[in-house]
Amino acid sequence: MFMNIQTIMVVGAGQMGSGIAQVAAQAGFRVILHDIRQEFVDRGRQTIEKNLARSVEKGKMSAEDKEAVLARLTLSVDLTDGRDADFVVEAVTENMGVKAEIFRQLDEICPAHTVLASNTSSLPITEIAAVTKRPEKVIGMHFMNPVPVMKLVEIIRGLQTADEVYQLTEDLAKQMGKVPVSVNDFPGFVSNRVLMPMINEAIYCVYEGVAEPEAIDEVMKLGMNHPMGPLTLADFIGLDTCLYIMEVLYEGFGDSKYRPCPLLRKYVKAGWLGRKSGRGFYVYN
Ligand SMILES: NC(=O)c1ccc[n+]([C@@H]2O[C@H](COP(=O)([O-])OP(=O)(O)OC[C@H]3O[C@@H](n4cnc5c(N)ncnc54)[C@H](O)[C@@H]3O)[C@@H](O)[C@H]2O)c1
Repeated sequence: MFMNIQTIMVVGAGQMGSGIAQVAAQAGFRVILHDIRQEFVDRGRQTIEKNLARSVEKGKMSAEDKEAVLARLTLSVDLTDGRDADFVVEAVTENMGVKAEIFRQLDEICPAHTVLASNTSSLPITEIAAVTKRPEKVIGMHFMNPVPVMKLVEIIRGLQTADEVYQLTEDLAKQMGKVPVSVNDFPGFVSNRVLMPMINEAIYCVYEGVAEPEAIDEVMKLGMNHPMGPLTLADFIGLDTCLYIMEVLYEGFGDSKYRPCPLLRKYVKAGWLGRKSGRGFYVYN
Protein backbone atom coordinates (compact mmCIF):
# COMPACT_ATOMS: atom_id res chain seq x y z
CA MET A 1 0.00 0.00 0.00
CA PHE A 2 1.12 3.57 -0.56
CA MET A 3 1.72 4.52 3.03
CA ASN A 4 2.73 3.45 6.47
CA ILE A 5 0.25 4.52 9.14
CA GLN A 6 1.86 5.91 12.28
CA THR A 7 -0.66 8.34 13.71
CA ILE A 8 -4.40 7.81 13.94
CA MET A 9 -6.80 10.57 14.94
CA VAL A 10 -10.13 9.58 16.50
CA VAL A 11 -12.72 12.36 16.33
CA GLY A 12 -15.36 12.03 19.08
CA ALA A 13 -14.34 10.65 22.48
CA GLY A 14 -17.68 9.07 23.46
CA GLN A 15 -18.58 5.43 23.90
CA MET A 16 -17.27 4.33 20.48
CA GLY A 17 -14.44 6.85 20.01
CA SER A 18 -12.75 6.00 23.30
CA GLY A 19 -12.94 2.28 22.45
CA ILE A 20 -11.46 2.84 18.98
CA ALA A 21 -8.67 4.99 20.44
CA GLN A 22 -7.93 2.23 22.96
CA VAL A 23 -7.61 -0.59 20.43
CA ALA A 24 -5.53 1.65 18.11
CA ALA A 25 -3.10 2.58 20.92
CA GLN A 26 -2.92 -1.07 22.01
CA ALA A 27 -1.99 -1.98 18.43
CA GLY A 28 1.03 0.33 18.73
CA PHE A 29 -0.18 3.42 16.87
CA ARG A 30 0.19 6.98 18.12
CA VAL A 31 -3.36 8.15 18.77
CA ILE A 32 -4.83 11.63 18.93
CA LEU A 33 -8.23 11.51 20.66
CA HIS A 34 -10.29 14.58 19.80
CA ASP A 35 -13.57 16.02 21.06
CA ILE A 36 -15.09 19.50 21.33
CA ARG A 37 -14.46 19.95 25.07
CA GLN A 38 -11.60 19.10 27.42
CA GLU A 39 -13.94 17.32 29.86
CA PHE A 40 -15.09 15.01 27.04
CA VAL A 41 -11.57 13.95 26.05
CA ASP A 42 -10.64 13.60 29.75
CA ARG A 43 -13.62 11.30 30.25
CA GLY A 44 -12.59 9.29 27.17
CA ARG A 45 -9.07 8.85 28.56
CA GLN A 46 -10.46 7.81 31.96
CA THR A 47 -12.57 5.11 30.29
CA ILE A 48 -9.48 3.79 28.48
CA GLU A 49 -7.41 3.89 31.67
CA LYS A 50 -10.11 1.97 33.56
CA ASN A 51 -10.34 -0.70 30.84
CA LEU A 52 -6.58 -1.15 30.76
CA ALA A 53 -6.38 -1.30 34.57
CA ARG A 54 -8.94 -4.11 34.49
CA SER A 55 -6.79 -6.02 31.97
CA VAL A 56 -3.77 -5.60 34.28
CA GLU A 57 -5.79 -6.87 37.26
CA LYS A 58 -6.86 -9.91 35.27
CA GLY A 59 -3.24 -10.60 34.32
CA LYS A 60 -3.95 -10.03 30.61
CA MET A 61 -1.58 -7.07 30.37
CA SER A 62 1.49 -5.90 32.28
CA ALA A 63 1.53 -2.58 34.15
CA GLU A 64 4.38 -1.43 31.87
CA ASP A 65 2.31 -2.19 28.76
CA LYS A 66 -0.57 -0.20 30.19
CA GLU A 67 1.69 2.82 30.70
CA ALA A 68 3.12 2.39 27.19
CA VAL A 69 -0.40 2.34 25.68
CA LEU A 70 -1.38 5.49 27.60
CA ALA A 71 1.87 7.19 26.58
CA ARG A 72 0.88 6.76 22.92
CA LEU A 73 -2.39 8.61 23.53
CA THR A 74 -2.65 12.39 23.25
CA LEU A 75 -5.79 14.43 23.79
CA SER A 76 -6.99 17.23 21.52
CA VAL A 77 -9.72 19.85 21.48
CA ASP A 78 -8.43 21.41 18.25
CA LEU A 79 -9.35 19.70 14.97
CA THR A 80 -6.27 21.19 13.25
CA ASP A 81 -4.25 18.56 15.18
CA GLY A 82 -5.42 16.36 12.30
CA ARG A 83 -2.50 17.76 10.29
CA ASP A 84 -0.37 15.05 11.98
CA ALA A 85 -2.75 12.17 11.21
CA ASP A 86 -2.23 9.47 8.57
CA PHE A 87 -5.65 7.98 9.21
CA VAL A 88 -8.74 9.50 10.86
CA VAL A 89 -11.69 7.59 12.34
CA GLU A 90 -14.68 9.84 12.95
CA ALA A 91 -17.02 8.69 15.75
CA VAL A 92 -19.13 11.74 16.60
CA THR A 93 -22.88 11.95 17.10
CA GLU A 94 -24.96 10.21 14.40
CA ASN A 95 -25.98 13.35 12.50
CA MET A 96 -25.24 14.05 8.82
CA GLY A 97 -24.87 17.81 9.31
CA VAL A 98 -22.31 17.40 12.10
CA LYS A 99 -20.36 14.69 10.27
CA ALA A 100 -20.36 16.57 6.94
CA GLU A 101 -18.90 19.67 8.60
CA ILE A 102 -16.14 17.62 10.26
CA PHE A 103 -15.23 15.87 6.98
CA ARG A 104 -15.19 19.20 5.14
CA GLN A 105 -12.77 20.62 7.72
CA LEU A 106 -10.60 17.48 7.93
CA ASP A 107 -10.29 17.52 4.14
CA GLU A 108 -8.65 20.96 4.42
CA ILE A 109 -6.59 20.20 7.53
CA CYS A 110 -5.19 16.73 6.84
CA PRO A 111 -2.29 15.93 4.48
CA ALA A 112 -3.21 14.66 1.01
CA HIS A 113 -2.39 11.03 1.89
CA THR A 114 -4.68 10.88 4.94
CA VAL A 115 -7.60 8.45 4.81
CA LEU A 116 -10.85 9.70 6.36
CA ALA A 117 -13.00 6.92 7.83
CA SER A 118 -16.41 7.14 9.49
CA ASN A 119 -17.77 4.83 12.19
CA THR A 120 -21.36 5.76 11.25
CA SER A 121 -23.86 2.97 11.78
CA SER A 122 -26.38 4.21 9.23
CA LEU A 123 -25.38 7.26 7.18
CA PRO A 124 -24.31 6.84 3.53
CA ILE A 125 -20.51 6.83 3.13
CA THR A 126 -20.88 8.07 -0.45
CA GLU A 127 -22.72 11.18 0.76
CA ILE A 128 -20.13 11.89 3.49
CA ALA A 129 -17.36 11.44 0.89
CA ALA A 130 -19.03 13.92 -1.46
CA VAL A 131 -18.30 16.89 0.83
CA THR A 132 -14.55 16.27 0.44
CA LYS A 133 -12.16 16.64 -2.49
CA ARG A 134 -10.82 13.13 -1.77
CA PRO A 135 -13.86 10.82 -2.06
CA GLU A 136 -11.52 7.97 -3.06
CA LYS A 137 -9.93 8.21 0.41
CA VAL A 138 -13.20 8.15 2.36
CA ILE A 139 -14.45 4.84 3.76
CA GLY A 140 -16.75 3.38 6.43
CA MET A 141 -15.16 1.59 9.37
CA HIS A 142 -18.07 0.33 11.46
CA PHE A 143 -16.89 -0.98 14.82
CA MET A 144 -19.27 -2.78 17.18
CA ASN A 145 -20.00 -1.84 20.78
CA PRO A 146 -18.09 -2.43 23.09
CA VAL A 147 -15.14 -1.90 20.74
CA PRO A 148 -12.40 -3.58 22.83
CA VAL A 149 -14.53 -6.76 23.07
CA MET A 150 -16.32 -7.16 19.73
CA LYS A 151 -14.34 -8.73 16.87
CA LEU A 152 -16.24 -7.45 13.84
CA VAL A 153 -15.43 -4.36 11.82
CA GLU A 154 -17.75 -3.84 8.87
CA ILE A 155 -15.76 -1.99 6.21
CA ILE A 156 -17.96 -0.02 3.86
CA ARG A 157 -16.84 1.03 0.42
CA GLY A 158 -18.36 4.26 -0.80
CA LEU A 159 -19.11 4.53 -4.50
CA GLN A 160 -15.70 6.11 -5.14
CA THR A 161 -13.53 4.46 -2.46
CA ALA A 162 -10.21 3.35 -3.99
CA ASP A 163 -9.18 -0.32 -3.77
CA GLU A 164 -5.87 0.62 -2.08
CA VAL A 165 -7.78 2.55 0.56
CA TYR A 166 -10.00 -0.45 1.18
CA GLN A 167 -6.90 -2.66 1.48
CA LEU A 168 -5.21 -0.26 3.88
CA THR A 169 -8.32 -0.08 6.07
CA GLU A 170 -8.71 -3.85 6.09
CA ASP A 171 -5.05 -4.25 7.14
CA LEU A 172 -5.52 -1.63 9.85
CA ALA A 173 -8.57 -3.43 11.27
CA LYS A 174 -6.52 -6.66 11.42
CA GLN A 175 -3.66 -4.87 13.16
CA MET A 176 -6.20 -3.72 15.76
CA GLY A 177 -7.03 -7.39 16.37
CA LYS A 178 -10.37 -7.22 14.55
CA VAL A 179 -11.98 -9.27 11.79
CA PRO A 180 -12.86 -7.03 8.84
CA VAL A 181 -15.79 -7.83 6.56
CA SER A 182 -16.26 -6.05 3.22
CA VAL A 183 -19.63 -4.46 2.48
CA ASN A 184 -20.92 -2.02 -0.14
CA ASP A 185 -22.65 1.26 0.68
CA PHE A 186 -26.41 0.66 0.97
CA PRO A 187 -28.77 1.71 3.78
CA GLY A 188 -28.04 -0.16 7.03
CA PHE A 189 -24.99 -1.86 5.43
CA VAL A 190 -25.33 -5.57 6.37
CA SER A 191 -25.34 -5.48 10.17
CA ASN A 192 -28.32 -3.19 10.68
CA ARG A 193 -30.13 -4.27 7.50
CA VAL A 194 -30.43 -7.77 8.90
CA LEU A 195 -30.54 -7.05 12.65
CA MET A 196 -33.01 -4.17 12.83
CA PRO A 197 -35.87 -5.73 10.83
CA MET A 198 -35.59 -8.74 13.14
CA ILE A 199 -35.84 -6.50 16.20
CA ASN A 200 -38.71 -4.56 14.57
CA GLU A 201 -40.52 -7.85 13.86
CA ALA A 202 -40.07 -8.92 17.49
CA ILE A 203 -41.69 -5.59 18.48
CA TYR A 204 -44.59 -6.32 16.08
CA CYS A 205 -45.04 -9.63 17.94
CA VAL A 206 -45.51 -7.66 21.18
CA TYR A 207 -47.76 -5.11 19.41
CA GLU A 208 -50.02 -7.79 17.93
CA GLY A 209 -50.11 -9.78 21.15
CA VAL A 210 -48.40 -12.82 19.67
CA ALA A 211 -46.45 -13.26 22.90
CA GLU A 212 -45.03 -11.43 25.93
CA PRO A 213 -41.52 -9.89 25.59
CA GLU A 214 -40.01 -12.53 27.89
CA ALA A 215 -41.47 -15.31 25.71
CA ILE A 216 -40.22 -13.75 22.46
CA ASP A 217 -36.71 -13.39 23.88
CA GLU A 218 -36.80 -16.95 25.21
CA VAL A 219 -37.77 -18.33 21.77
CA MET A 220 -34.88 -16.58 20.07
CA LYS A 221 -32.37 -17.46 22.79
CA LEU A 222 -33.18 -21.12 23.23
CA GLY A 223 -34.50 -21.81 19.74
CA MET A 224 -32.00 -19.90 17.61
CA ASN A 225 -29.03 -19.88 19.98
CA HIS A 226 -28.91 -16.08 20.10
CA PRO A 227 -26.92 -14.99 23.17
CA MET A 228 -29.53 -12.29 23.88
CA GLY A 229 -33.21 -12.00 22.89
CA PRO A 230 -34.11 -9.27 20.34
CA LEU A 231 -36.08 -7.15 22.84
CA THR A 232 -33.34 -7.29 25.47
CA LEU A 233 -30.94 -6.31 22.70
CA ALA A 234 -33.22 -3.45 21.57
CA ASP A 235 -33.28 -2.10 25.15
CA PHE A 236 -29.50 -2.35 25.23
CA ILE A 237 -29.00 -0.52 21.90
CA GLY A 238 -31.58 2.16 22.78
CA LEU A 239 -35.09 2.24 21.29
CA ASP A 240 -34.50 5.73 19.85
CA THR A 241 -31.49 4.37 17.95
CA CYS A 242 -33.53 1.37 16.73
CA LEU A 243 -36.30 3.67 15.48
CA TYR A 244 -33.80 5.96 13.80
CA ILE A 245 -32.17 3.07 11.92
CA MET A 246 -35.55 1.65 10.84
CA GLU A 247 -36.38 5.08 9.44
CA VAL A 248 -33.08 5.13 7.52
CA LEU A 249 -33.98 1.73 5.99
CA TYR A 250 -37.59 2.75 5.28
CA GLU A 251 -36.60 6.01 3.58
CA GLY A 252 -33.49 4.59 1.92
CA PHE A 253 -35.32 1.73 0.18
CA GLY A 254 -38.84 3.20 0.03
CA ASP A 255 -40.08 -0.31 0.80
CA SER A 256 -42.94 -0.85 3.27
CA LYS A 257 -41.29 -3.98 4.65
CA TYR A 258 -39.03 -1.66 6.66
CA ARG A 259 -41.85 0.35 8.28
CA PRO A 260 -41.09 0.95 11.97
CA CYS A 261 -43.60 -0.73 14.32
CA PRO A 262 -46.07 1.82 15.80
CA LEU A 263 -45.33 0.44 19.28
CA LEU A 264 -41.66 1.33 18.84
CA ARG A 265 -42.66 4.91 17.94
CA LYS A 266 -44.98 5.08 20.94
CA TYR A 267 -42.30 3.91 23.40
CA VAL A 268 -39.78 6.41 22.03
CA LYS A 269 -42.33 9.25 22.27
CA ALA A 270 -43.02 8.25 25.89
CA GLY A 271 -39.30 8.41 26.68
CA TRP A 272 -39.07 4.63 27.13
CA LEU A 273 -35.68 4.33 25.47
CA GLY A 274 -34.51 1.07 27.05
CA ARG A 275 -31.72 0.51 29.55
CA LYS A 276 -30.43 4.09 29.42
CA SER A 277 -33.78 5.60 30.49
CA GLY A 278 -34.64 2.83 32.97
CA ARG A 279 -37.54 1.46 30.93
CA GLY A 280 -38.09 -0.11 27.53
CA PHE A 281 -39.51 -3.58 26.98
CA TYR A 282 -38.21 -4.30 30.48
CA VAL A 283 -37.86 -2.18 33.63
CA TYR A 284 -34.35 -1.44 34.92
CA ASN A 285 -33.25 -0.04 38.24
N1 LIG B 1 -23.21 3.11 20.37
C1 LIG B 1 -23.19 2.11 19.53
O1 LIG B 1 -23.62 1.00 19.84
C2 LIG B 1 -22.60 2.31 18.17
C3 LIG B 1 -22.17 1.17 17.43
C4 LIG B 1 -21.57 1.36 16.18
C5 LIG B 1 -21.45 2.65 15.67
N2 LIG B 1 -21.89 3.73 16.38
C6 LIG B 1 -21.71 5.07 15.79
O2 LIG B 1 -20.60 5.69 16.42
C7 LIG B 1 -20.79 7.10 16.45
C8 LIG B 1 -20.64 7.61 17.86
O3 LIG B 1 -21.55 6.97 18.70
P1 LIG B 1 -21.34 6.90 20.30
O4 LIG B 1 -22.28 5.86 20.79
O5 LIG B 1 -19.90 6.81 20.63
O6 LIG B 1 -21.90 8.34 20.73
P2 LIG B 1 -21.53 9.21 22.02
O7 LIG B 1 -22.65 10.16 22.21
O8 LIG B 1 -21.11 8.33 23.16
O9 LIG B 1 -20.23 10.04 21.57
C9 LIG B 1 -20.24 11.03 20.58
C10 LIG B 1 -19.15 12.04 20.90
O10 LIG B 1 -19.01 12.93 19.78
C11 LIG B 1 -18.70 14.19 20.30
N3 LIG B 1 -18.96 15.22 19.30
C12 LIG B 1 -20.15 15.74 18.89
N4 LIG B 1 -19.96 16.71 17.95
C13 LIG B 1 -18.61 16.79 17.77
C14 LIG B 1 -17.78 17.59 16.94
N5 LIG B 1 -18.29 18.50 16.12
N6 LIG B 1 -16.44 17.41 17.00
C15 LIG B 1 -15.89 16.49 17.84
N7 LIG B 1 -16.63 15.70 18.65
C16 LIG B 1 -17.97 15.85 18.62
C17 LIG B 1 -19.57 14.31 21.53
O11 LIG B 1 -19.09 15.34 22.41
C18 LIG B 1 -19.45 12.90 22.13
O12 LIG B 1 -18.38 12.82 23.06
C19 LIG B 1 -22.16 7.35 15.81
O13 LIG B 1 -21.97 7.63 14.44
C20 LIG B 1 -22.85 6.01 16.00
O14 LIG B 1 -23.85 5.80 15.03
C21 LIG B 1 -22.44 3.58 17.62
